Amino acid sequence: MADWSSGYVTDVTYIPGYYQELSPAIIRFCLLIQQLTPPPAEEFNYCELGFGQGLSLNLHAAASPGAFAGTDFNSEQAAFAARLAGAAGSDLAVCDDSFEDFSRRDLPQFDYIALHGIWSWINDANRRQIVEFANKRLKRGGAFYVSYNCYPGLAAIEPMRKLFMLHGRRLGEGVSSLERIQGALEFTERIFQAGPHYFHSSGNVGARFEALKNASPRYLAHEYFNANWDIMYFSDVAEMLAGARLNFAASAVPHESVKGLGMSDEAREYLNKVADPFLYQQLYDYFVNRAFRKDIYVRGALPLGEAAYRERMLAQRFILTREPAGIDMTLKVGMGTASFLEEIYRPAVAALAEDGHSPKGLEELRERLGGKLDYSQLLSVCINLMGVGVILPCQTPEAAERCRATARALNAAICRLAGTRDDLRCLASPVTGVGVAVSRMDQLVLDAASSGNEVAPYLLRTLQAGNIAIMKNGRNAENEAEAKHFLEEFLADFHQKRETILKSLGIA
Ligand SMILES: C[S@@+](CC[C@H](N)C(=O)[O-])C[C@H]1O[C@@H](n2cnc3c(N)ncnc32)[C@H](O)[C@@H]1O
Repeated sequence: MADWSSGYVTDVTYIPGYYQELSPAIIRFCLLIQQLTPPPAEEFNYCELGFGQGLSLNLHAAASPGAFAGTDFNSEQAAFAARLAGAAGSDLAVCDDSFEDFSRRDLPQFDYIALHGIWSWINDANRRQIVEFANKRLKRGGAFYVSYNCYPGLAAIEPMRKLFMLHGRRLGEGVSSLERIQGALEFTERIFQAGPHYFHSSGNVGARFEALKNASPRYLAHEYFNANWDIMYFSDVAEMLAGARLNFAASAVPHESVKGLGMSDEAREYLNKVADPFLYQQLYDYFVNRAFRKDIYVRGALPLGEAAYRERMLAQRFILTREPAGIDMTLKVGMGTASFLEEIYRPAVAALAEDGHSPKGLEELRERLGGKLDYSQLLSVCINLMGVGVILPCQTPEAAERCRATARALNAAICRLAGTRDDLRCLASPVTGVGVAVSRMDQLVLDAASSGNEVAPYLLRTLQAGNIAIMKNGRNAENEAEAKHFLEEFLADFHQKRETILKSLGIA
């Protein structure tokens, strides 16, 4: 661990991950459904703190019409993020400063400040830096997104993480993070095999330990092996952020704002009587035994009047990002699972798929569904379908047009990298301003299609050069003729099922 890192792991780089909650478009949507005035959708300034490999930051910068900046003190990660930004030609300033050094830079006032997977893994001094940064740098009406490990859901896991640290302390200095992880897992496994009551009595410790034994060591290093792993209550974080005049405004997961969803009757009845929104949030965590929060705070949130809210809602369009067949209309939420009515949700999905998955507003959806649902019912359907992970809100067509070139350039760079790596599984959608999951194989098809060569032979050459298995139903092609046949079928499937959606998203 380096002296400058305040106990944060620096000898292993983090895995690239994509988090749509960081996107200005999702933040705005979450505020809008709370009837709060969102920050601007264009000409805004956005900042991400601790961007990791910068995949989310790059996808958002390339797909949104704003100016972006971010810092992560891991220089190798920042170099990768800067390389992607260079390829995209987006308006993105990448720094490798610590939060403290970054705050001394000559920076603009931001409409959005966002951090994901940071708060629980840094020390108090760095958390204070972030609060101070938001206090100085967030505009009035600006949004602050933060995620963190929380009580009560993670309370049972804390003693397990303590074992990892105890083992690390016995090893002393000069041991790499990867060696620490290996040793700590073996140490903990031996203890658990001897059957301590803790292992059997507390929460999901056993399941969690089994899962993390199979997780990537790079993930484990950053998740469990920093000096800090600080679980907090919602109420404590809210109080700290109040120091920067930030008030809790919304969950960054839209369906979590739908009161009562996935709750037992008793819980719903109890929570309905909790008038104080601050207390409601904290009590909700107890009811669902929440372990991780994704929250949006606003500095001086202005409520939207009824007319302004209605106007914005009617202007909001949505796009279906999956083919309708096979969508599971259930959602793990609250204390259990919500199952959405097939007779309402299937026709809604079918309507969204019409005209080649073109984006549609609530008015258009209402007409296509024969006027059976009113706007607020339709909005609930859309929010729940976002929860199911099959639709996204769209930017205006003008905003989408402004970002088409940068999104195309970033996507081309990512698709080219897919020939040699399998961990950048998202592309930028200028239509939504959000990153969309696209498999490595589909990325390679897009790369082949943009190469100016005949797609199938180019794809075959890329796969062979990268030693990438050509498979069907989990079975490897046995010879070149079979490989070509598998690829033909794959391409037919791509053209039939996914190409239209990717075109509508502005990706293909
Ligand atoms: C768990 S990772 C999360 C990365 C990314 N936000 C994500 O969710 O994929 C935390 C990141 O914060 C960065 N970091 C930690 N402390 C920092 C500090 N004081 N200044 C700048 N970056 C920091 C680390 O280098 C690391 O990339």
